[in-house]
Amino acid sequence: MGNESGRQLASKWAKTEALLSHAQIAPHIPPTRMFTRDNLSSMLNQHSMVVVKPVKGAGGHGVIKVTREGGSYRYTYYSKTNSFHSFEGLYKSLNAKRGNRRYLIQKGIRLATIAGRPIDYRVKYVKQPEGHWNITAIVGRLAKPGLFVTNICRGGTLLSGSEGIRRSFSSASVGPKKREMRTLTQLSTEVLESRFPGMGTLGFDYGIDTSGKIWIFEVNTRPQ
Ligand SMILES: Nc1ncnc2c1ncn2[C@@H]1O[C@H](COP(=O)(O)OP(=O)(O)O)[C@@H](O)[C@H]1O
Ligand SMILES: [Mg+2]
Repeated sequence: MGNESGRQLASKWAKTEALLSHAQIAPHIPPTRMFTRDNLSSMLNQHSMVVVKPVKGAGGHGVIKVTREGGSYRYTYYSKTNSFHSFEGLYKSLNAKRGNRRYLIQKGIRLATIAGRPIDYRVKYVKQPEGHWNITAIVGRLAKPGLFVTNICRGGTLLSGSEGIRRSFSSASVGPKKREMRTLTQLSTEVLESRFPGMGTLGFDYGIDTSGKIWIFEVNTRPQ
């Protein structure tokens, strides 16, 4: 069985909802809503930074960071920034960018950094022919300078998970953080498998914020 085997589940919304249903996993999922005018307004009232991204997306395409400072707004798409003096202007511009694709709004996580570059982690979890699951890799991905997305196809740099945690936190954090990611991966897979039978290889995207808290950004069912 290759990596192409197993069920694909493209909707980030369906997977996020499933994980939110589990009391031990839910605290690690950034608050998430469907993109609507009202949800954008209330999310930006609650959080000074949100990320807007396609329900069905990959490779960091269409992922937009939105920040609020008082009554002004700014969004960053790739390395381009747009500023708005009103919520209305922000909403219209984002909605035009979205076109007719469905988008999510997620609380923005302030990732730990190395030399100012955000880092996050990919955990690859593979279902063996015998039926049990194995973690085959934990890698760190360092954003290209100037970008907030870490995707390799957007110029991100790979390093080992251990090196990433050591350089963004400390050597003493490596064991505990990797352990926490392993536990969340195992638990989340049980939840996803019971909802969506037939998945083969999973790629978990984890962020660690500046306070050390671990967040699940998404679970890929056809990881690279
Ligand atoms: N809520 C968030 N807060 C901060 N950064 C985020 C958030 N969601 C995504 N990102 C950044 O954008 C990247 C791409 O987002 P992701 O949800 O993994 O979608 P994709 O399917 O495009 O990879 C992540 O690896 C991370 O660097
Ligand atoms: Mg991703």
